Amino acid sequence: MLSAKATCNSHGQDSSYFLGWEEYEKNPYHPVNNPNGMIQMGLAENQLSFDLLESWLNNNPDSSGFTAQSVSSFKELALFQDYHGLPAFKNALADFMSEIRDNKVTFNPNNLVLTAGATSANETLMFCVADPGDAFLIPTPYYPGFDRDLKWRTGAEIVPIHCSSSNGFRITQSALEDAYQQAQKQNLKVKGVLVTNPSNPLGTSLSLHELELLVSFISSKKLHLISDEIYSGTVFSSPGFISIMEVLKNKDLLNTDVAKQVHIVYSLSKDLGLPGFRIGAIYSNDDVVVSAATKMSSFGLISSQTQYLLSQILSDKKFTKNYLTENRKRLKQRHDMLEKALHKTGISCLKGNAGLFSWVDMRCLLSSQTFEGEMELWKKIVYDVGLNISPGSSCHCSEPGWFRVCFANMSKETLVLAMQRLSSFVDSSVKKTNHNHWRRHVNKSSRKSKSLPKWVFSLSFATTRSGKNSDR
Ligand SMILES: Cc1ncc(COP(=O)(O)O)c(C=O)c1O
Repeated sequence: MLSAKATCNSHGQDSSYFLGWEEYEKNPYHPVNNPNGMIQMGLAENQLSFDLLESWLNNNPDSSGFTAQSVSSFKELALFQDYHGLPAFKNALADFMSEIRDNKVTFNPNNLVLTAGATSANETLMFCVADPGDAFLIPTPYYPGFDRDLKWRTGAEIVPIHCSSSNGFRITQSALEDAYQQAQKQNLKVKGVLVTNPSNPLGTSLSLHELELLVSFISSKKLHLISDEIYSGTVFSSPGFISIMEVLKNKDLLNTDVAKQVHIVYSLSKDLGLPGFRIGAIYSNDDVVVSAATKMSSFGLISSQTQYLLSQILSDKKFTKNYLTENRKRLKQRHDMLEKALHKTGISCLKGNAGLFSWVDMRCLLSSQTFEGEMELWKKIVYDVGLNISPGSSCHCSEPGWFRVCFANMSKETLVLAMQRLSSFVDSSVKKTNHNHWRRHVNKSSRKSKSLPKWVFSLSFATTRSGKNSDR
């Protein structure tokens, strides 16, 4: 009785990324009401600077457009709006996007299309540049929501650009070429490349070298490049953030056809921590894409009231300057706190400089270096330890043992508790595997390196052993 779309399984909801959220919902941690509940570390939400927004609202009580003082705005906002968006908001958003990029580039509000979050922006762009069956290349690991946003309703396909831990998951020329050829082997027409800069889940920003590589790749192969820059305001340490627009500008490409192939996705869900307001945007250098996306935006507009409120917040330059600086500072503190606690336990992370999460290397804790081993560990961490983290396989990582751990959606106290739980789990795992037979190896190895806790070696040996067993 239902359509193929409604009943097909390509939404991606059955990924462990979303399953972890479901498990969390059944038993959410609360410091008083449910102290043994599950701690949500699988949600890339930024709650660290909420107080700054709250205090702005307290100081600007008329900003909602709904108070007695602003009766005329209420009527204006409640009546019909076309899909072009409020000019005041588009101007303020374009300025804010420039401010995040240290005003090294400017954005023309006429090239902005407003959408209900980056989710809608990504899908709308896909509808504009790809037909069903066409493919986009995406570096792995990538945000699990892309399977839903880019493929589900559009019928487009994703082909992974396999990146590896050997070079910190950086994009290389050969990885791009391999993915392109892989798509051709599958008889897929490649329409473009999509990158997230800074990356979710890596928590790193793309280097100038990678960005230049991407520009020359899409230029030589005549492809689109979508740069999802939703985390651009979260870069908290060096190297800084380089927007794809900056690269186009510095290479004198802004008024060329190559610029028309480049589209930016943005949203206030991460930088301002407002995912519930559904404020997203497409910035395209191609007028035809802007026009088509504007018409499509009818299906996911931002409410006029939200646009009105945000136009006032973003026009307050003193506020935005302070917010961006303070938010970066708080993110860095939180990121450093998580990494320090993990290191103490013997777990390392990819060196990150951005985002709301760390990309954590738990290969030493795997019973076998396989995705089955990763799932086994993930289940233990979810059900026994009570932490919802996201396994690398849900982000299409090519190597088992990596996990995305979010740090900005909870209080400091909750993060401390989460790390205590993880540390006890690691200790007990070591006890279980620490047979006499292995202890000799452990002692020998730990004499070689004093900097890592003994369990790292102990578990590495156990892992090698069980890996061998499972090979047989
Ligand atoms: C890379 C990336 N793009 C898009 C989105 C969706 O964002 P929004 O809430 O603005 O739809 C997310 C959310 O986590 C994301 O990480």
